[in-house]
Amino acid sequence: MRLWGGNYSGDPDRDFWEFNRSFPFDRRLVTEEIAASRAWVRALARCQAVTADEADRLDGALERLAQQVQADPACLDLDAEDVHSFVETRLTEALGHLAGQAHLGRSRNEQAVTALRLWIRGAADRLREGVARLVEALAEQGRAGAEAVMPGYTHTRAAEPITFGHLAAAHAWALVRDHERLADARRRANVLPLGSGALAGTALPIDREALGRDLGFDSVSPNALDAVMDRDFAAEFVFACAQLQTHLARLAEDLIWLSGPEYGFFELPESFTTGSSLMPQKKNPDALELVRGKAARVDGDLVRLLALMKGLPAGYQKDLQEDKEAVFDAADAASASVVVMTGVVAGLGLNREAMRRAAGREELMAAGLAVALARDGMPFRQAHALVGSLVAEARQTGASLREVAGRALAVQSPGVAARLDSVLDAEQAVRAKAARGGTAPDAVRESLAGAVERVRRR
Ligand code: ARG
Repeated sequence: MRLWGGNYSGDPDRDFWEFNRSFPFDRRLVTEEIAASRAWVRALARCQAVTADEADRLDGALERLAQQVQADPACLDLDAEDVHSFVETRLTEALGHLAGQAHLGRSRNEQAVTALRLWIRGAADRLREGVARLVEALAEQGRAGAEAVMPGYTHTRAAEPITFGHLAAAHAWALVRDHERLADARRRANVLPLGSGALAGTALPIDREALGRDLGFDSVSPNALDAVMDRDFAAEFVFACAQLQTHLARLAEDLIWLSGPEYGFFELPESFTTGSSLMPQKKNPDALELVRGKAARVDGDLVRLLALMKGLPAGYQKDLQEDKEAVFDAADAASASVVVMTGVVAGLGLNREAMRRAAGREELMAAGLAVALARDGMPFRQAHALVGSLVAEARQTGASLREVAGRALAVQSPGVAARLDSVLDAEQAVRAKAARGGTAPDAVRESLAGAVERVRRR
């Protein structure tokens, strides 16, 4: 059934009809479309645009349709133009002419954006729950490895010792921001467009505030023309997904390279790896690589939305129908990635021996040694240069930094020379970084607890 055509003499071109249809993808909005329709019928009844009896019959039929699509998703296989005409077609089959009353004064322009806002609201909530679980999994591993010393890297070169908990907390806090960003995006999406008509507003005496409350919206759109053309709530949600996916990709990258045999810091859970068809020894980190790869895809979704909106004149344009797949794709990629990442993190094994061996290289304590010298009275730049020359000497002679420094500092800084063993000890170096946000085990535990507390907040 077409919702238009009174002014037409024939049918649309078959190829164009297919090209024009959005039902193959916007059927995902069917639950939201029915919920919005039921609320609209209630609003019509409140302003006596339909009788209480008509409203009851419309509501009953819409409720049955909702149950039917729940129970039998195959009933969505229909040659409908879009999800809005699908619902109206089904309603017409059930109620005849009365069905049209559910659409009294309502434009698909506002219906499309209302359903999308409702969908994003639910998707943001689901995604936030997933992110919270991932943060909890990271915190649990981080607590287990709060004392496990490993090298921290800059430029992929070992820099200073850190604890595994510190690395876990770093990734957890990035995800805390995503959790909050999704809440922000949800807030901006949670505005009622219904009652905007096609662009000019509605002539029916609808109480839009009551309608908004009925659908759980925080407020009502203040301009009907803006309401039907605005998709920045969608772009913002997709940006939140893209930023989240970027954080997942960075976590994936750390787990990929540091679990490789050359480092061997982590053991990936086997059930999240795959083997090679040729090389029998392989266990490849495909799950993590796909998480990383999907970041490109979600970035594409964001660019797609931004490019879609630029240059559109005021008002609804059919271009806007292209918004939905980008939103669905971004949400699907991010939520599947969050689930897989949570499984990988929860199943991660820590190889403490390999970590501590790599972190025990005395060079990693060079900065700590320079700071110790400066605190013993040597100007910091001088201390930095001195330690640099000691490192170079140790490398050239093959002697340990401990030996070389012991000799040189006996004269230049006897106080530090006496404490060299502890200054060059990775565990002590880590414990020294006790200020808030540092890698000392207690600071790490506090940071992890803070991250969990933030994602448990509503
Ligand atoms: N299916 C369309 C969309 O997804 C909604 C209908 C648009 N309205 C119109 N007058 N063409 O945006």
